[in-house]
Amino acid sequence: MKGRAEKYDELARKRELSEMPAGAEAVQKQHQRGKRSARERVDALVDDGSFVEFDRFVEHRTNAFGLDEKEFLGDGVITGRATIDGRQIFLFSQDFSVLGGSLGEAFAEKICKVMDLAVRTGSPVIGINDSGGARIQEGVVSLGGYAEIFWRNVQASGVVPQLSLIAGPCAGGAVYSPAITDFILMTEKISQMFITGPEIIKTVTGEDVTFEQLGGATTHATKSGVAHLVATDEDNLVELTRALFSFIPQNNRELPTQYDCDDDPHRIVHALDDVVPDSPNKPYDMHQVIEAVVDYGDFLEILPHYAENIICGFGRINGATVGITGNQPSVLAGVLDTRSSVKAARFIRFCDAFNIPLVTFVDVPGFLPGTDQEYGGIILHGAKLLYAFAEATVPKITIITRKAYGGAYDVMASKHIRADVNLAWPTAEIAVMGAEGAVKTIFRREIAASKDGEAKTRELIDEYTERFANAYIAAQRGYVDDVIEARKTRSAIATALHMLSKKRVARPKRKHGNIPL
Ligand code: HXC
Repeated sequence: MKGRAEKYDELARKRELSEMPAGAEAVQKQHQRGKRSARERVDALVDDGSFVEFDRFVEHRTNAFGLDEKEFLGDGVITGRATIDGRQIFLFSQDFSVLGGSLGEAFAEKICKVMDLAVRTGSPVIGINDSGGARIQEGVVSLGGYAEIFWRNVQASGVVPQLSLIAGPCAGGAVYSPAITDFILMTEKISQMFITGPEIIKTVTGEDVTFEQLGGATTHATKSGVAHLVATDEDNLVELTRALFSFIPQNNRELPTQYDCDDDPHRIVHALDDVVPDSPNKPYDMHQVIEAVVDYGDFLEILPHYAENIICGFGRINGATVGITGNQPSVLAGVLDTRSSVKAARFIRFCDAFNIPLVTFVDVPGFLPGTDQEYGGIILHGAKLLYAFAEATVPKITIITRKAYGGAYDVMASKHIRADVNLAWPTAEIAVMGAEGAVKTIFRREIAASKDGEAKTRELIDEYTERFANAYIAAQRGYVDDVIEARKTRSAIATALHMLSKKRVARPKRKHGNIPL
């Protein structure tokens, strides 16, 4: 019989083995690929000394295909509890050096355990993904394991924030759990996400595509819109994750952290008075406006290189998080299209689910016309944005900087869909459509009948612009609450947020709405 000392030795030995279950060489191999090991990733991400590991002695239970000879303590995933900036999180880190980070029954159970604890304790979940997908040797059991995780992702959605860090190849089932989570962060060159890999694609469709072209960070950040943030390397991945984390709350019952703020909330920004050009067709960069308004100019943009005609991201006003959406006049004139509508709708719904007030900057000429858009479902996708703004019950503050035309005026957090405070700059043009289009539509006959059609058109455009393309028709009706000098925007937002800090809205009883997916 083992004595107490031997039992303690056994524990120490097992613990040491679980630190590098596939051995030092496997960790080295991971380093050679430019990657950290699963354990190093946890250490780099969380507060020093805060990680408490669970289930380090778990092993798989499969004998098939030689797995009985391949036993790894922890079964290829590190799970546990830690803190980031002193706030509790639950996390898992998949270990590619153990059977390619593939997911089997025990592996899945470990992830489910931390997800359950996260929901019970109202703590965010961070998953570090580096996996070849379902563990082929375990067959349907691994599919079941995935589905258990997917189900939990859905139950946790809108209850606790879920972040997915993609830190290696993620294939097959390994991409669907991240897809359900709130944010996906990828690392350039070392991470890829795809449902089926290049070889299968070649067989089925004949296409030649590399892993990077198919599912690399750049592809997902620019073409598919799957990757919300892209890191240049593993250090940058940690920085971005911690930055994003700082803006979001622990759960749907709490507010994001209130930070101390030395940046005067009533700071006047004179430069804003000169941002909007005199010519209505001249672009400007809405980032200038956003960065001038938020605390210290600190703005974390989400999906910065996808559907750039709309800007979404987090900033703070007087130390409190706001979710900012803004049309971008310098890309496609800030028009709404299918991709920008979906991008912003998802962002807005995240903010609403997690008590983050919405600040919306509007300069939108309308929806993008064309068969491409109509066949691509702009009716449905534009409706998602409308739905998202309309259903949001967090404080909603809207600032019209220039154009707010047609349906896009309604959609972009107008008073009618229950924004709380709607403001306009003196440069605002709020109308059914731009002056030229309007005049050519309603005065077609007059223009045709006049001797000098061009001069008549110019005259009518001037008259229309003077009478309708301004902020005051909307202000007369109370559709905008005030017209303010651009320089006072930060102060006006801060005052509105303070006024709305105790906003409560009763919702009708129902199972859930039916957003036009
Ligand atoms: C078991 C796996 C595995 C898997 C990789 N490995 N994927 N073992 N099940 N799914 C093992 C490899 O055999 C290898 O073991 C080690 O992990 C490293 O893999 P490599 O291929 O050498 O690495 P690399 O060249 O970097 O390629 C990584 C990869 C590739 C792109 C992920 O391994 C790959 O394509 N794997 C299969 C991906 C896939 O099709 N998964 C889908 C499964 S079905 P040794 O012992 O040689 O080191 C699925 C459906 C779920 O997920 C659906 C739910 C909705």
